[in-house]
Amino acid sequence: MTDQELHLLLEDMSLQEKIDQLLQLTADFYGKTDRDVVTGPASELGISMEDIDLAGSVLNGTGAKALMQIQDAYMDRHPHHIPLLFMMDVIHGYRTIFPAPIAQGASFDPEISKRAASVAARETSAAGIHVVFSPMVDLVRDPRWGRVMESTGEDPYLNSRFAAAQIHGFQGDDMKEDGKVCGCIKHFAGYGGAEAGREYNTVQVSEHTFREYYLPSYEAGIKAGAGMVMTSFNTVNDIPATINQKLMRQMLREEMGFDGVLISDYAAILETVAHGASSDKKDAAHKALLAGVDIDMMTGCYAGELAKLVKEGTIPESLIDESVLRILQLKNQLGLFEHPHKDADPEKEARYILCPEHRALAREAAAASCVLLKNDKVLPIRPSQKVAFIGPYIDNYEICSSWAVTGHPEDSVTIRQAAKELLPDSDLTFCHGTTLLPRDHVFAGFAEPNRAEEFYADVFADPEKALADAVAAAKAADVVILCLGEHYLQTGEATSRTELSLPENQMELFCAVKTVNPNVAVVLFNGHPLLLDELSRNAAAILQAWLPGTEGGHAILDLLTGTKNPSGKLPMTFPRNMGQIPIYYNHFSTGRPLTGTDPQRFVSKYTDTPNTPLFPFGYGLSYAEFSYSDVSLSSDSLTSEDSITASVQLKNTGACTGTEVVQLYIQDVAASTVRPVRELKGFTRITLTPGETQTVSFRISEAELSFHRADGSYGTEPGAFRVWIGGSSATENGTGFTLR
Ligand code: GLC
Repeated sequence: MTDQELHLLLEDMSLQEKIDQLLQLTADFYGKTDRDVVTGPASELGISMEDIDLAGSVLNGTGAKALMQIQDAYMDRHPHHIPLLFMMDVIHGYRTIFPAPIAQGASFDPEISKRAASVAARETSAAGIHVVFSPMVDLVRDPRWGRVMESTGEDPYLNSRFAAAQIHGFQGDDMKEDGKVCGCIKHFAGYGGAEAGREYNTVQVSEHTFREYYLPSYEAGIKAGAGMVMTSFNTVNDIPATINQKLMRQMLREEMGFDGVLISDYAAILETVAHGASSDKKDAAHKALLAGVDIDMMTGCYAGELAKLVKEGTIPESLIDESVLRILQLKNQLGLFEHPHKDADPEKEARYILCPEHRALAREAAAASCVLLKNDKVLPIRPSQKVAFIGPYIDNYEICSSWAVTGHPEDSVTIRQAAKELLPDSDLTFCHGTTLLPRDHVFAGFAEPNRAEEFYADVFADPEKALADAVAAAKAADVVILCLGEHYLQTGEATSRTELSLPENQMELFCAVKTVNPNVAVVLFNGHPLLLDELSRNAAAILQAWLPGTEGGHAILDLLTGTKNPSGKLPMTFPRNMGQIPIYYNHFSTGRPLTGTDPQRFVSKYTDTPNTPLFPFGYGLSYAEFSYSDVSLSSDSLTSEDSITASVQLKNTGACTGTEVVQLYIQDVAASTVRPVRELKGFTRITLTPGETQTVSFRISEAELSFHRADGSYGTEPGAFRVWIGGSSATENGTGFTLR
């Protein structure tokens, strides 16, 4: 439709039709679909059958045939035959599940995330979905928060690169194209700053910190063309984001230029009453509309209250028209007026879902996402070795995430399956040794099945024997691959925890196995950065595998056997203990920084723990070895109009081909506001054969040096800068320059 036709349609719509375009309901209001997902609290909506018949969009249902039927029935009933929008949480894959976003961030390869998003869009659109509630781009600094798994980590620049890449992958150049969907940047804004890492908790950050750290990734996704933004549950400067006019009208719409659809998070409009910022549903509806929220996800606030507000003259109907028009424009951008089914097609589902090409990319992405944290030369394993695969994750196929809501866990490749496939002639043994969690562990409120009885029947039957068998297998082996971690439902929404150590039963297994065989390589499956102090001291190797997705087993064995070489780097700091949290690399100096190793009393430190983390942001090893020359600069000074180039010679001094993520960090030594001790301003993946050397260069210009100055403006300030280039945020390989 032309824009003029959209305006004519809008003019012809009744007030009730307009208001119900702003209502989003779950698919079960319209019929059974292939997968009906619950992602929020149940509540009495107080809506009418007419509201249901006129609602503008649907979430959490999928399947081409089912959604085509729902669309046809709905449009037949609708007075103007306006098509429904179908939306779904496709966070890291539809049925081919890619590594969890925290893992994708560890790849430091936005391009592979773009390709993964494109595959997800292809599968999702074939299933009839038009909009995905992805990417989540919240900056995170507190590993207690369960949703760190959904983010790409603690750095604004890294998050921004991944946000843009995923939007490009989902939407392509035109979301109307076959195989493309509309992306949704979420959660706007600052949700990752929840105090104490407690889910849905208050966010208290200065506006300066908010703009410097939390906002860039949302803006990057919007500049990449995101068609939708979702509000966050939290307060921002003591006003719930969902009704926060400064956040939504000024920062999102005016400053960032976002003119797409703004959708509330699940029940977030009504929840402003619980926040104590709205007195009732009517007040909540009023404030959310004033803030420019276009779609009310799963409450009756808009449907039940907006007509009253218009009729009593509290709000002009034009304010509703603004939102309705943005929704109609999105439907038009997707081509739904001409093709209401868009790409929904059972034949396409059969052709694309889990096809070999998609699985191959998932395997490639998972291998690139794993981070080698330690390796005392026990990895890679050799086919001639006797290998004992031990632990609760050797057969567990729940290696996606709690947000893989359209995935089928049984599609995943387990460690045992991959080991047998990739090491067909090797002498392998497999023992569970213990379970993931105690048998009586309950996931309160979760609907997902508990497969512990299936996975660990042998352990439950005879725990002592299970442990003894594992110890015997370890004793007889040349090397042990010990597969430990979190249960996948321990990470994701509503899973904050105050203790991030591995369960005692798993550490008991580690100690028992380590006692009889020093060559223990631990493979970790987790979404939270866990406390790994004891493992870091006593394991011979640690491979951080995160939640690797459908092809996890294959990818991990590709790495364990050396078919592929680990290249991932940590996108989030791993603390030594809970007391260090929050701990992140791009922190401020303080007036009494702890420097050097001399014992100092009056400095910023703990008396019982070092300031440094166990593993820093940007850290990760390879089977190869890399050396860096000193940083050289094309000039030791620049103006805001020109640029300089910083370079190193990177050499593979190891015995095998490897990929290094070369990272550029910059510090503004003195400015009108304090600046981080260093910030990531560039990275690139370099693959070198043994002995090969390559010059790696980064351009430094005003873009890399600008910040939100004390007067509120954005730009540079002259003065001294430090620059480092290395393999992690802890690199000391640096020099300096002056901005004149
Ligand atoms: C959930 C999540 C959000 C998700 C939405 C719809 O509560 O916060 O990320 O997209 O509801 O399922």
